[in-house]
Amino acid sequence: MGNLFKDFSINNESLFLNEHMLSYDYQPKLVPHRENQQHFIASCIKPLFEKRSGKNLFIFGQPGIGKTVSLIHVLNELNEKTDEIETIYINCWKKDTSHKMAIEICHQLGYKFTHNKGTDELFEEIKTRLNKKSAVIVLDEVDKLSDFQTIYNLLEDIYRKCIFFITNDKKFLIGLDARLKSRLSLSELEFKPYNYEQTKDILNERKKYAFVKDAFSQDAFEVIAKKSHEVQDIRTGLFLLQESGNIAEEKSSKKITLEHSQEAVSRLKNYKIKIPLELDEEEKEIVELIKNNVNKDILEIYEEYKKKNDKSIRTFQRKIKELAKNKVIFLDEVISKKGGKTYNLRCVDKKLVEF
Ligand SMILES: Nc1ncnc2c1ncn2[C@@H]1O[C@H](COP(=O)(O)OP(=O)(O)OP(=O)(O)O)[C@@H](O)[C@H]1O
Ligand SMILES: [Mg+2]
Repeated sequence: MGNLFKDFSINNESLFLNEHMLSYDYQPKLVPHRENQQHFIASCIKPLFEKRSGKNLFIFGQPGIGKTVSLIHVLNELNEKTDEIETIYINCWKKDTSHKMAIEICHQLGYKFTHNKGTDELFEEIKTRLNKKSAVIVLDEVDKLSDFQTIYNLLEDIYRKCIFFITNDKKFLIGLDARLKSRLSLSELEFKPYNYEQTKDILNERKKYAFVKDAFSQDAFEVIAKKSHEVQDIRTGLFLLQESGNIAEEKSSKKITLEHSQEAVSRLKNYKIKIPLELDEEEKEIVELIKNNVNKDILEIYEEYKKKNDKSIRTFQRKIKELAKNKVIFLDEVISKKGGKTYNLRCVDKKLVEF
């Protein structure tokens, strides 16, 4: 037998058991420490069981503290309980216009023929289908929505429903059209950050299933729980768990030690888990360009940008600086093809930031 592969082993010594349990959109079976909020949400839905309309709810709180995961949990339980209530979940960051929203609702209702149809036409379908039953509609990241036509339509034309709005931005409500606000008659529900014990418990639950038994040393874990509590964001904790595992594996270690989790924490500085600021259309376009042009320098990206935008290099550079300052992108110093100093542009890890 040759020895070409003698140093390779089938990778059965991974420290990870179920790595996907650390991904941000993994839906855990249980969502502990949000029981009160979930009961309150359920109470808003209760009237639908009696064929009456439910309560609309404005849900707010800072990033990474279990708003989305709690709402999805409630929808899942509701779907298990009854077929008489349709559940719709929309991320308004991804579906940011009435038209995109209408298409998404159609798809969730199992109606596929949305191609080439206008928003009004789509809404007719939605209306017919939803009014056969009751509906719970969750509009997550609702502050990212660019127009409210579909919300108006839902309010006016769907008889028995609950609409839940989720946002980080408490002020969103103040800016909302008075007419819309008065018709919605929203109750409010605030999610407050978890305390240390809760943070630790939630992360411990994820760690238990994500890693091989006893792979994670206790002191390494505590560093992560502390950091996650300090920044009041579970997502950061999940990122650190994963990153510590990666670092330990890179070093072929059989255990994840304090040193590994400390290195993961130091890497954290380079990432922005979620962008708190809103990007305008131009900035979004630049970020897209950077994503699609890996390893290009600032001038090369500008050449691409110029094809569609009549903007000076100065204006472009100013935008780039602003994006870099907010850690949406990074500038890596490199030597240009001509020998001078220039910068390559890089986007943060796609896993961490969704645009
Ligand atoms: N109580 C919990 N139990 C289990 N996992 C949780 C809990 N709270 C949060 N998480 C996990 O933390 C991550 C962030 O939670 P979630 O996505 O619900 O945050 P969010 O409040 O919706 O944040 P954002 O405002 O940024 O959307 C998710 O991966 C989620 O699974
Ligand atoms: Mg969320």
